[in-house]
Amino acid sequence: MSGDQTKFTQKPLFYWMLFIATAVVVFLIGLFGASVLERRSESYQLLQPVKPIADWEPSNAAWGENYPREYETYRATAETTFASLHGGSATIDALERYPRLVVLWAGYAFSRDYKQGRGHYHAVEDIRNTLRTNVPQPGTCWSCKSTDVPRLINKMGAAEFYKAKWEDLGSEVVNNIGCQDCHDPKTMNLRITRPALIEAYQRQGKKIEESTHQQMRSQVCAQCHVEYYFKGKQEKYLTFPWDEGSTAEQIQAYYDKVEHVDWVHKISGAPMLKAQHPDWEIFQMGIHFQRGLACADCHMPYRSEGGVKFTNHKIASPLENVAGSCQVCHRESEKALIDNVQERQEKVRQLAGMAEDLLVRAHIETRVALDRGATPEQIKPVYQLIRQAQWRWDFVVASHGGSFHAPIECARIMGNAIEKAAEARTQLAGLLGRLGVELPVAMPDISTKAKAQRYIGLDMARLEAEKADFKARVISTWGEPAL
Ligand code: HEC
Ligand code: HEC
Ligand code: HEC
Ligand code: HEC
Repeated sequence: MSGDQTKFTQKPLFYWMLFIATAVVVFLIGLFGASVLERRSESYQLLQPVKPIADWEPSNAAWGENYPREYETYRATAETTFASLHGGSATIDALERYPRLVVLWAGYAFSRDYKQGRGHYHAVEDIRNTLRTNVPQPGTCWSCKSTDVPRLINKMGAAEFYKAKWEDLGSEVVNNIGCQDCHDPKTMNLRITRPALIEAYQRQGKKIEESTHQQMRSQVCAQCHVEYYFKGKQEKYLTFPWDEGSTAEQIQAYYDKVEHVDWVHKISGAPMLKAQHPDWEIFQMGIHFQRGLACADCHMPYRSEGGVKFTNHKIASPLENVAGSCQVCHRESEKALIDNVQERQEKVRQLAGMAEDLLVRAHIETRVALDRGATPEQIKPVYQLIRQAQWRWDFVVASHGGSFHAPIECARIMGNAIEKAAEARTQLAGLLGRLGVELPVAMPDISTKAKAQRYIGLDMARLEAEKADFKARVISTWGEPAL
């Protein structure tokens, strides 16, 4: 027997205790390590609200009492100071920047006022203020603005909510987009509160309830950041037009089938479509989606504070926070990454400019052809081309992040828009020639928003006065939007 073994046999209890103590220490170190790495799942176990949150609780402040970090970062969406080349939280007046849009939307409320989106904490204020709500709108317009919407839909039923008058619901809708829209108050699990998304999945034979957690991290956004239309003259039922698929062409095929027309163009008389903001649809055509990313990966990155890891709820341009949003995966410098984004945006913007120029000309040339006696039969194919070209252009520009989310797809769609607009003008040139019109047709001066609005016959002073009056009489009785 060696001496060591003698010791062991002499003091077995001591060595057994040393062994057990070591095992316990190793176990505790492991536990501690795991808890550092798994802060997330640990924090998830602690997600039960301390103060119970009522079903359909619309107040973000009430949820915030339980989850101060998420609440404080979410409140930061009220900031309006960050401007990037094409995005950010500072207001961009799109009609000032691109006056041709006024002519492209002539006869539709977007030609009065169109500003690029700000943070979620401005949703209620911005819809109240826009000149687009001067014209009577349905309740449907509130759908993507507020946590009061799930509450009201639960109370009234979706169909009744949509067909109510927009202004009749005004005093009920005062809380900005928030916790209620994306979370279950009992478990804090992500959940879908907007029927339109669930119904669109059902019509395609898919079940949104079977989505993975990572899919849900996009689908909560897809409740609002999508293409939609109001189905039915009276019903105004919020509908996502994905039955044929969700590319620009497939959605157009759907609209053609149901003979949907958003408005008749004031200059050309063409039956137009207005694209909303198909961010989810276009995102799915890009590399980040194909590599498994969700919206939240860039727009709601994790953040650590005092050893606690949580989701940054300041949903905004990721260019404000490249370290958190991009550099968790990419090793390139902040400048290189911002350049990558803006280079893609600029290239798509260049194509958009070409499409806008051709489309403005096509609308005006069509007017001249009609004034000189072109028949409906002669104009019909031109109308189809204008409708299809402008739909494609709008699909890309209305998706505010599209030219980064899926640059190649945006360029492809814009290329098709240019081709169709050019084809419309080729047909118009032949027609105008036969009608004895001298080419080129003279173009008006639409170099500023004001000039373009005057050209299409908008009386902006009157519209502003009407809005001021409506605010004083009606909106002022609704109370301030809640913070
Ligand atoms: C790989 C990162 C990434 C993912 C994933 C992502 N985005 Fe973006 N998103 C960006 C960048 C970068 C911009 C451009 C911001 C800018 O120009 O300031 C942007 C812009 C936007 C904008 C316009 C913001 C602004 O300030 O004008 C919206 C809205 C948007 N994204 C929504 C979404 C939605 C919805 C999804 C999921 C369907 C999504 N994004 C997925 C990176 C991402
Ligand atoms: C209930 C509807 C709704 C949901 C859900 C929603 N959004 Fe929005 N989002 C909006 C509206 C409306 C605006 C424009 C608000 C304004 O301009 O007043 C907006 C604005 C934005 C902006 C622009 C803000 C800025 O500062 O540039 C980004 C980026 C954005 N949303 C991304 C997302 C992402 C990512 C998700 C999912 C995690 C999401 N949104 C979920 C309705 C929604
Ligand atoms: C536009 C959708 C959206 C809104 C609005 C929203 N959240 Fe979240 N929230 C998310 C997403 C996405 C996650 C990440 C979920 C995950 O990956 O597990 C998240 C995670 C959380 C978590 C889990 C812990 C963490 O930080 O990851 C809490 C708690 C939470 N949110 C609270 C809130 C509160 C409080 C509000 C309102 C002030 C709110 N959320 C508003 C989408 C949203
Ligand atoms: C979760 C990881 C992840 C995050 C976060 C992320 N990316 Fe990516 N990114 C990828 C992957 C994966 C690819 C595809 C590259 C490949 O598979 O080789 C990619 C591709 C790219 C490309 C090339 C795609 C193209 O259009 O040709 C650019 C540019 C890019 N990312 C920029 C960004 C920027 C800017 C951000 C932040 C706003 C960001 N990424 C956030 C993972 C990420």
